[in-house]
Amino acid sequence: MNLDGKTCVVTGAAVRIGRSIALGAGRAGANVVVHYGTSKDEAEETAAELREFGVGALTISADLNDSVATAEAIFDAARDAFGPIDVLVNSAAIFENAPLVETTEDLYDRHQNINLKSPFFLAQQFVKQLPGDRRGHILNLADWRSRRIPPDFIAYTLAKAGLAAMTEGLAQQLAPRVQVNAIAPGAILPPPGSDPEEWKSRKVPEIPLGRTGGPDDIAAAALYLLQSDFISGEILHVTGAEHLSGP
Ligand SMILES: NC(=O)c1ccc[n+]([C@@H]2O[C@H](COP(=O)([O-])OP(=O)(O)OC[C@H]3O[C@@H](n4cnc5c(N)ncnc54)[C@H](OP(=O)(O)O)[C@@H]3O)[C@@H](O)[C@H]2O)c1
Repeated sequence: MNLDGKTCVVTGAAVRIGRSIALGAGRAGANVVVHYGTSKDEAEETAAELREFGVGALTISADLNDSVATAEAIFDAARDAFGPIDVLVNSAAIFENAPLVETTEDLYDRHQNINLKSPFFLAQQFVKQLPGDRRGHILNLADWRSRRIPPDFIAYTLAKAGLAAMTEGLAQQLAPRVQVNAIAPGAILPPPGSDPEEWKSRKVPEIPLGRTGGPDDIAAAALYLLQSDFISGEILHVTGAEHLSGP
């Protein structure tokens, strides 16, 4: 898809990976709906940077823990601002660790709601609003852990495994009009609040390419998938080969 003049909704687009994808889409000529949860100032900065590319940008705050109502609200606002939406990027997520016996219902439900249920109902809203004569693209941010299941982060991994399954199922259900792909990132950015140096020194030995990635690596992969007219149902690993050798 040529993104020039198209409109993308990117969740979690104020900061980090979502921001890089949003800016990549804007650089390619797309209007961007910058969804955020709490990072208001950063969302406005991302939107301002997008407008410097000469594209439209709208910020929308919505809590993805309330999946169905939020999905409707995001697409209502996005459509009012730009008309039909061509691309949905599900990037927002949470990443919390707890062993089975310490997993509360709240932790489990939040991972399901934010990391899986919201992408599902956002995809539903996306398809409902897409005019019959237009093509579309959904891109999900999964994790290599969703394909090579580790023992930890179990609630997170279950939700991301669901997102990978959703990608493959919807790629078939929504063809030929809508392409559905995912990126499975490896070590790109340390989890919010963690020590970046400690994280890096722990992760690098596990990565065959000998370094961690960066948000621009994910944005480049996102642009590659979104600009393709023939890739669908793909889960693209961007991990420095950690998914082949990691613990
Ligand atoms: N970072 C990595 O190395 C890595 C590795 C593997 C997979 N991934 C995946 O790649 C994607 C992007 O990663 P990231 O590290 O950039 O993500 P992140 O910083 O952990 O989260 C992205 C954004 O999600 C939003 N969010 C969380 N809970 C929300 C809620 N209830 N309602 C609305 N928004 C909410 C937050 O927005 P606000 O700040 O506005 O509240 C947050 O900034 C995620 O899906 C992640 O699982 C990342």
